Amino acid sequence: MLICNWKMYGDLQLVGLYKKNIPYSQNLIVCPMATLCSELKDTFKVGGQNCHQEKEGAFTGEISPLSLKEVGCEYVLLGHSERRKYFGETNELVIKKAVTAKECGLTPIICVGSNSEDIVQIKQDLIQQLPQDSSFIIAYEPTWAIGTNKIPSLDHIDQIMQWLANQGFSQKVYGGSVNSENAQDIHQLCQGLLIGRASLDIHSVLTIGKSLEIWN
Ligand code: PGA
Repeated sequence: MLICNWKMYGDLQLVGLYKKNIPYSQNLIVCPMATLCSELKDTFKVGGQNCHQEKEGAFTGEISPLSLKEVGCEYVLLGHSERRKYFGETNELVIKKAVTAKECGLTPIICVGSNSEDIVQIKQDLIQQLPQDSSFIIAYEPTWAIGTNKIPSLDHIDQIMQWLANQGFSQKVYGGSVNSENAQDIHQLCQGLLIGRASLDIHSVLTIGKSLEIWN
């Protein structure tokens, strides 16, 4: 599984480049800004980057999970570290969003992570963030690895992925400074990769997708 998180980047030009250059794969999920989802939904599996914890209401400026579903999303990223850091999303709120999103027919991808590099501390931090429902997809992203080119060792990733498996989570994804050089090795340790910056570069998406064999 390759999840492309465009963040607040990307426009109709990038949509066009994706459509022209990147073949469909059921293992490729594109998560653009909500305003671009409907443009991509006929060509790719699409996910939102966030949604509200209620299905509808007087919440000006927010995005309903029902609306994401209506414009063609099958997935939604929730609790990305940028949401937690800049928008004050708490563990409790993220879980609430995931439950509502699931009720609306979306598959939530819950992002969890820690500021720490110490495995014991990381597990303690993740325990607070993990949902009870082990059917959710979990994206493990060390906060210090996002947008930095700093990447944990394969042993670190392996330890956390195995620990997540012991907690009952079978769908585990790694994210944080994944690029065309490190993608294949990391993918041996989990079910998928979440890419940020690399998702904005068609060549990187193609190279990473090939190394993950998403078109085989
Ligand atoms: P990055 O971002 O790949 O640019 O480090 C990952 C993410 O934000 O999920």
